[in-house]
Amino acid sequence: MDKLIITGNGPLDGEVWASGAKNAALPILCATLLSEGPVTIGNLPHLQDITTTLELLGRMGVEPVLGERMTIQLDGAQVKDCHAPYELVKKMRASILVLGPLLAHFGTADVSLPGGCAIGSRPVDLHLRGLEAMGAEISVENGYVRARVPGGRLKGAHVFFDTVTVTGTENLLMAASLAAGTTVLENAAREPEIVDLADCLIKMGANISGHGTDTITVVGVERLHGCEYDVMPDRIETGTFLVAAAMTGGRVRVRKTRADILEAVLAKLEEAGASITTGADWIEADMQGKRPRAVNIRTAPYPAFPTDMQAQFVALNAVAQGTARVVETIFENRFMHVQELNRMGANIALEGNTAVITGVEQLSGAPVMATDLRASASLVVAATIARGETLVDRIYHIDRGYECIEEKLQLLGAKIRRVPG
Ligand code: UD1
Repeated sequence: MDKLIITGNGPLDGEVWASGAKNAALPILCATLLSEGPVTIGNLPHLQDITTTLELLGRMGVEPVLGERMTIQLDGAQVKDCHAPYELVKKMRASILVLGPLLAHFGTADVSLPGGCAIGSRPVDLHLRGLEAMGAEISVENGYVRARVPGGRLKGAHVFFDTVTVTGTENLLMAASLAAGTTVLENAAREPEIVDLADCLIKMGANISGHGTDTITVVGVERLHGCEYDVMPDRIETGTFLVAAAMTGGRVRVRKTRADILEAVLAKLEEAGASITTGADWIEADMQGKRPRAVNIRTAPYPAFPTDMQAQFVALNAVAQGTARVVETIFENRFMHVQELNRMGANIALEGNTAVITGVEQLSGAPVMATDLRASASLVVAATIARGETLVDRIYHIDRGYECIEEKLQLLGAKIRRVPG
């Protein structure tokens, strides 16, 4: 297993670019299962989760064609086998996103149930309930979701989500695009990645309105066609580099990104003392010569503060002036970075779903373990200002979500190298 070795050397300074958003790319790749004709996708990040999704689509018969500008072309008409095996689904929970498109286009799907997850139980009951409301017959047998559509075509339905679910909304949005009649999704997720997926579906010929609000209306169409679509920038990767600037007392400009999708995060960075400037496609955070102030955080669905930025702000608070409370309301077990940060000298106490963080002046390097994607990022950023050397083990987690993490941090002046294991 590869490891990262980081020697803390002070403020990060410079420019990096944001890659395409993983959480938009994954549903968009799965949406190609709905098309009859090639969909060409640009700005895909080079990440393990993207490779896993392409492998999954390949097993179903959809062969990716690499185009110019590193685009990937996929054609849902090539599907031969509506089956997502455990060995791939276990690598990536988002594989459940093939369920809605397969059912809508082919009327049948056998998708392995995702297993437990490091950050919480993460059930998919709301995905299944919504598809049942649209006429699917679903059973869970031998660890697989076995779903069939009597008559072959899903029907439009009124679906109310008990809990705001991002991939649940995406699965039903894709399914509804090819269903007979109108579907209304209420208490839908409003994340920018949902808007990106909806925009791609609309380019494929879908009739969708209300995306970006909590009520999405989809008038099903008979077929969807190919198109060209570029994935939006990754707001979590962007936010991580901006936190890195604020936490290390540095200055970082992130290019190829958007400020409008990061409002809650930018507001917290300003509260921490960073000055934020933005342009049409860039954001800069400047904290030079200053120590961050402690900031309270409460995670919640978009447009509130994202759970995927929680670990990075715990790390920022670990070196801030004052005491902060960080409350996690989305996932029940998403504080595994806390013990690791404490091993680096942080002063963090856990009280249920709240981390109480008293900032220290200096962290120190230590061997630590990456536990999930965003937790790993918080450890790596913390290591860039810790005294001495930090060895981060199990970095396959970070490779799932951050493209070229060590190259990008090196651009900002970090002393970081990968040791193949
Ligand atoms: C997505 C993101 C993930 C992010 C999360 C919350 C992708 C690929 N992943 O994950 O990075 O951290 O949103 O912003 O986009 N729930 C149920 N039943 C369901 C579905 C969800 O109870 O059927 C619960 C979950 O356990 C969780 C909450 O709803 O407590 C929100 O989860 P959800 O939005 O579904 O997360 P994901 O879509 O898996």
